[in-house]
Amino acid sequence: MKAIVAVDRKWGIGKNNSLLFNIPLDMDFFRRTTLNKVVVMGSNTLNSFPNAKPLKNRTNIVLFPRAAKREDCIIVESLAELSVLLKQFNTEEVFIIGGASVYATMLPFCDTVFVTKVDADGQAELFYPNLDDMPNWKMTEQSKPVKDGEYTLTFCTYKNNDTKPF
Ligand SMILES: NC(=O)c1ccc[n+]([C@@H]2O[C@H](COP(=O)([O-])OP(=O)(O)OC[C@H]3O[C@@H](n4cnc5c(N)ncnc54)[C@H](OP(=O)(O)O)[C@@H]3O)[C@@H](O)[C@H]2O)c1
Repeated sequence: MKAIVAVDRKWGIGKNNSLLFNIPLDMDFFRRTTLNKVVVMGSNTLNSFPNAKPLKNRTNIVLFPRAAKREDCIIVESLAELSVLLKQFNTEEVFIIGGASVYATMLPFCDTVFVTKVDADGQAELFYPNLDDMPNWKMTEQSKPVKDGEYTLTFCTYKNNDTKPF
């Protein structure tokens, strides 16, 4: 499985249950990468979406203990339940999309992380693990810096050389 995340200079990812930035170029990259795939998120991330609605044209799986089952996404209560459910899907098509707690929990099981680095300080409260400090993670691709309005972004791919089975 893979993860996809946008980080600031300090690997910050969120504050006040929102994203740090609203950058159309990155939103477009996120959309193109995850479209028609399986996305896995925590309850706070679902609740951060407009009207707390899941993402269109993707299979949405939400770690959400004690929540009622619903039609528009698949609710799971535990990692054990998630593990059984994910056996139905091609692991190549599964993307961990946040937030901080789910990213951290699922990182050992990801073989690839797509990191959009935003050259700014978003004054984050929540952070992604700094993959540059983790010996089993290596950056294998890095785009040229691209500008979107006031922001400069770099699209990076990290690979895990010690992926654990989930
Ligand atoms: N920069 C980015 O790319 C990006 C992407 C996504 C999200 N974000 C940001 O990340 C922040 C949200 O992160 P977060 O850590 O607060 O929340 P989160 O990871 O979205 O959701 C956490 C909740 O998910 C449930 N959960 C997580 N792990 C679980 C497990 N192992 N078993 C059962 N339930 C589990 C729990 O729900 P209950 O509390 O209901 O028990 C937990 O409180 C927001 O600011 C959001 O905007 C940033």
